[in-house]
Amino acid sequence: MSPDLRGAMRNFATGVCVATTYADHEGIRRHDAVTLNSLTSVSLDPPLVSMSLRRGSQFLDDLLATKQWAISILDSDAESLARRLARSREDRAEAVAALDATPGPATGALMLDAQSSLECVLWDSFDLGDHTMVIGEVVTTGVRDLQPPLLFLHGTFHQLATAATTKES
Ligand SMILES: Cc1cc2nc3c(=O)[nH]c(=O)nc-3n(C[C@H](O)[C@H](O)[C@H](O)COP(=O)(O)O)c2cc1C
Repeated sequence: MSPDLRGAMRNFATGVCVATTYADHEGIRRHDAVTLNSLTSVSLDPPLVSMSLRRGSQFLDDLLATKQWAISILDSDAESLARRLARSREDRAEAVAALDATPGPATGALMLDAQSSLECVLWDSFDLGDHTMVIGEVVTTGVRDLQPPLLFLHGTFHQLATAATTKES
């Protein structure tokens, strides 16, 4: 019997982020945004993060072509947005067009008004099983007042109001 990885990982609580990138075609820029929870901090010097994206993902294709993206870490009130951006490209297009976001200064990828945001340029990528791990060098970061984060656990979203804490020194 093959191991139930999905079932075992249900008990691993993560944050939730929106990754954004774009494709330029004949002078027109088409932005895209997807919900992810595979964001991991990899290295501080140089500053690197990783994300694991399903192979065949249209978002992944754009990211590997553009080699630039942005990440916005979601607040607890962003569950509805996270759900809408987890749909297929066609079905999330309306939510992408309606995003309250501005192009990042370093990458041009859309950045939400999020508690933390990062802009990344492609450092490396590896095909691993049915996913591709992309490693990004973090070129800008933004942090605003700490808010309760949106969490993903047991296959669904949760709010952790008690995480609206003061910054540790
Ligand atoms: C909470 C949550 C976390 C997700 N994390 C990932 C992830 O880390 N990698 C991934 O490939 N898809 C992840 N997904 C699914 C993508 O959001 C969804 O498949 C994507 O929007 C489809 O994009 P595509 O059409 O370009 O493949 C996640 C979905 C949810 C709801």
